[in-house]
Amino acid sequence: MPKINKYVDIDTVERESKKDYIDRHSPFIHCAESAKSGEMFSVTVKMGEEYTHPDDFDHYIANMALYNGDTLLARADFVAGALGNIKAHATVTFNIIPTSKKLNLVAQSYCTKHGVWESTPVEVTVED
Ligand SMILES: [Fe+2]
Repeated sequence: MPKINKYVDIDTVERESKKDYIDRHSPFIHCAESAKSGEMFSVTVKMGEEYTHPDDFDHYIANMALYNGDTLLARADFVAGALGNIKAHATVTFNIIPTSKKLNLVAQSYCTKHGVWESTPVEVTVED
């Protein structure tokens, strides 16, 4: 089992290099607070808010996945160089159709050098 690194608020972290390390490896969920049952709902997952991650052949973000609780909804895989071999925010927009009363969204990402990272959960209410 890989270790799962969970996001911690970087405002609570002293060292600049550690802020950079945590932020660039953390997936952040961007979506509306509520969705409509049975209708397409877009959820964007973006790596890092302030700091960008490398896209080198031996060190890159290999995948980003979206979960509803423990259930995998979707996953996107990247190959090295997809982001031009430059530092960038890997970003994926997932389009899902919710049918339950609420979504408990969690994103995970995988860095080829620094392992699995998990976002802060985001709750979305689903209206009929
Ligand atoms: Fe990394």
